Amino acid sequence: MQRKEFEGVILWLTGLSGAGKSTLAARLDKALLERVDARRMVYNLDGDRLREGLNRDLSFSPVDRMENIRRFAEVAALFQDAGAIVIVSMISPYRESRAEARRIGRNGQFIEIFVDTPVTVCQSRDPKGLYKKAREGKITDMTGIQAPYEAPEDPDIHIHTESQSPDESIAEILTELQKRNVLE
Ligand code: ADX
Repeated sequence: MQRKEFEGVILWLTGLSGAGKSTLAARLDKALLERVDARRMVYNLDGDRLREGLNRDLSFSPVDRMENIRRFAEVAALFQDAGAIVIVSMISPYRESRAEARRIGRNGQFIEIFVDTPVTVCQSRDPKGLYKKAREGKITDMTGIQAPYEAPEDPDIHIHTESQSPDESIAEILTELQKRNVLE
């Protein structure tokens, strides 16, 4: 048997903290596993997980965020080389870094998915209490408050979490993946 039977794909979810990336990534993981060939690997690579391990030396300074995104892209590209569908969810606030990630993922499709949630909505959800801390001055580099988030200008898939339910968002992503021949 050949080692690599499938073309690797990177699904790169970008958006603010609290935008819903991890929720969508988990649902997408499940939906894909139900639909793809049983031999195909689907892997959900989450920002928080990498920051606890491989990237635990990195802060939230601009230079470290760039390095965080670069390492993430390199890891995703390895999975892609192995033929996996890799779901990446990280804020990845810089356009140039996301473009670099697309270049690093060279041997297959790279699909940028913008999980678009206004910062006011993220602040009201505030699942980790980080926006509150930013307002209190306990965090001084929170993305969307003191630090920039450069929204994608032309994402491959644009999800509006305010007006779409998670099920609708997943359905939209799956339809797009069919168009791109990632799914049958
Ligand atoms: S990135 O900017 O380098 O792409 P990444 O996605 O890895 O960020 O990590 C973001 C997560 O770290 C957030 O979901 C949040 O839980 C936490 N976090 C802690 N401090 C900050 C901060 N200053 N800005 C953004 N997220 C932060």
